[in-house]
Amino acid sequence: MVRILTALALLRIGTSAALPGRRVLPYHDLDMTDAALLAARWAHSIAAVAWVGGGIFYLLVLRPAVTNGALPSDSARATAERFGGLVKLAMWTLVVTGAVLFFTRISEPTATARYAAVLGLKVALSAWMFFIAVRRRRRIADAVAVKPGRIRAVAAALGHVNTVVILGAAIFLLSDVLRYIVEQELGG
Ligand code: HEM
Repeated sequence: MVRILTALALLRIGTSAALPGRRVLPYHDLDMTDAALLAARWAHSIAAVAWVGGGIFYLLVLRPAVTNGALPSDSARATAERFGGLVKLAMWTLVVTGAVLFFTRISEPTATARYAAVLGLKVALSAWMFFIAVRRRRRIADAVAVKPGRIRAVAAALGHVNTVVILGAAIFLLSDVLRYIVEQELGG
């Protein structure tokens, strides 16, 4: 009986017991929570990279090809539509996983006032980015449906990508600042 209780106690403390002197955050007590948080963090990063990276690819590679007329109109339209689908998926992933990371981080001792302020700014910029993307998605759909032959209409409707990429880059920076604050707090 004593052996079973000792084993259960060790299971609950997990690997943290093997690292003396290291401050352990509450959610690190359970291995399952660790795995779920890791998955949320991974999905959050992949979605962010896909959206912002796709926008940079569009601005630096695809748009010049569209405006030069080097890309056939059908390809340009199909690309715009597919990218719109990817952005929608990325947005949902960011909102769901962002909420998980938000509530986890905000309930930790590292959530100081400056952490909360930077996180608030990040959420506000994210909301702006989502708003622009949702509003313009409708314009892209209209451009594709109403003027199927005109690449310029699609290119104009995708003009917002500039703003989205700038906002996305700023949000990446804020995410790094958040991590930096956490590391500073843990370092004492
Ligand atoms: C609903 C909006 C969002 C919320 C609530 C949210 C929340 C968070 C939180 C709490 C973290 C953890 C920061 C830390 O290390 O303490 C994080 C990380 C991160 N977020 Fe967001 N986020 C949102 C949207 C976005 C958007 C729109 C982007 C990019 C375009 C983004 C990119 C990132 C990146 C790159 C990380 C770092 C991931 C890592 O280091 O593993 N987030 N986010």
